[in-house]
Parts: sequence; structure tokens; C-alpha cells
Amino acid sequence: MAEPLLKIVNLHAEIAETGTEILKGVNLEIGEGEIHAIMGPNGSGKSTLSKVISGHPAYEVTDGDILFRGESILDKEPDERAHAGIFLAFQYPVEIPGVSIANFLRTALNSKRGEEIDIFDFQDLMTSKMEMLSMDPVFAQRAVNDGFSGGEKKRNEILQLAMLEPTLAVMDETDSGLDIDALKIVSAGINKVKEQHETDMAVLLITHYQRMLNYITPDFVHVMLNGRVIRSGGAELALELEERGYEWARELELA
Ligand SMILES: Nc1ncnc2c1ncn2[C@@H]1O[C@H](COP(=O)(O)OP(=O)(O)OP(=O)(O)O)[C@@H](O)[C@H]1O
Ligand SMILES: [Mg+2]
Repeated sequence: MAEPLLKIVNLHAEIAETGTEILKGVNLEIGEGEIHAIMGPNGSGKSTLSKVISGHPAYEVTDGDILFRGESILDKEPDERAHAGIFLAFQYPVEIPGVSIANFLRTALNSKRGEEIDIFDFQDLMTSKMEMLSMDPVFAQRAVNDGFSGGEKKRNEILQLAMLEPTLAVMDETDSGLDIDALKIVSAGINKVKEQHETDMAVLLITHYQRMLNYITPDFVHVMLNGRVIRSGGAELALELEERGYEWARELELA
């Protein structure tokens, strides 16, 4: 079998400040181009996992490893991880007053490419991506996340995804705060980005509800509980969870 794109082995991580362990031995493998969904109750460690993958300084890895294309990324800074092709949707959740989305994206793209993109090429690229995502061009002139609604923030993330074309996209809570139409647009956006992608983009989708998975079909579904992945399966696992609830998953863990 080919080397997985991302391989998480017995990952233990704690809150750097307090030493509280949150991730207690996570194992997960994602192959190139695969769509994985992680589900699990509140506080099970899903967001922590995505932050640890991104190299968030609030967490310390105490055991295990994260391999990207077979190489440990634990020693890499967050921007080096981004450069390697790992994209985190919440990576820039902060409001950046005064910096337009267009300027922000251009800087991010230049940093990823390691060279300046021609301003006209950039405009063309952005226009075509916004069209693909059914976004109003005016949106690009707004400041990053400044007064954005939940749905607008998510659309902005999808636009980043379309522009930066990562190898692995980690999307946390992509469905939270989205009304049903926005949910469809975002799901369709991810699907379109994936289709148009030159290389096959892998996606790690963190979600509470099966709802979003009606629009994006995962190849694998994982259930996270208590800082561990306690069960993995196909798309049908999400349906089973929706039906039977996380109590069922808890019982499985104990069984
Ligand atoms: N920086 C932090 N400081 C204090 N506690 C933290 C920190 N990060 C995570 N935790 C705690 O770790 C646990 C897991 O949090 P995490 O955000 O990963 O859960 P989650 O699975 O994403 O939950 P949700 O479904 O509610 O988003 C929670 O109890 C949370 O309070
Ligand atoms: Mg979370």
C-alpha cells in the first residue's frame, strides 16, 4: 500500500499551560484525495486534534507522531505546515480590520507560491473562483472576518480553500452556524474545489451532524470520544450514529 498522506500515530497532547491531557492516543490515516469525517460529542477533542495538526502553540504533543508524506511535522512551525500543503479552515479566524479579503488572499497565495503573482492574473483567478462558488465579487473587498456572519466566515474559508488549493484541508465545524442553503453552498464549494483541484485534495471534515454528510460523501467516518478515535467505518457509520446517538458509541468503547 502507498504511504498515507497523513498518518497520526498514538498521538497524545496536553494543554501547554496546565498540562491537562486532551488527546489520549489518537490513531488516524488519511490517504491522498480521501474525504474523512470526524464526529463526536462536545469536548471529545476534535478541535484540539485539528489545532494540534496545525501546530497550535497552546498544545504540547507528549507522545506519538504526526507524519505528513511519511515525515514527522511535529518540529515544523504552523506556516511551514501550511507551506507543505496543510490547510486549516480556522487558521485565520481573527478579524483583520483594514485588510481586504482580496489582499489577504494575495499575500497568502504569494507566500504559498514563494513568488509574487501578477496582479491581473490574481484578479482573474479570484474572479473565476468566486464565480465558481456563487459569491458576490463585492465580498472580496470587505475586511477579513470584519462583521462577517457565521455563514460569510465559512464562505470565506471555502474561497481560501479554492485559491490556495491545499493537499490536505482540515475543516472544523464547517456546518455550524450555516442555514440549510449556506450549508449546500459550502458543501458544493468543497466538492467543486475538490473536482477542479489539480492534485487530489484530501479533506478532514469535523462535524457534529450527519446533515452535512448528505452533501459531501465521506470515504471514512471516525468517531472521537474522550481524546481517542474509538471507531472508524464508512459513510454508513455517520447514519448509524445519527440514529443511535453517541451513547451507543460510548457503549462500543466500553465493550
Ligand atoms: N486551550 C484550552 N484551554 C483549556 N481547555 C481546553 C483547551 N483546549 C481544549 N480544552 C478542553 O479540552 C476538551 C476538548 O476540547 P475540544 O475543543 O477539542 O472539543 P471538541 O470535540 O472540538 O468539542 P465541540 O464539539 O464542542 O467543538 C474540552 O473539555 C475543552 O474544554
Ligand atoms: Mg470543536
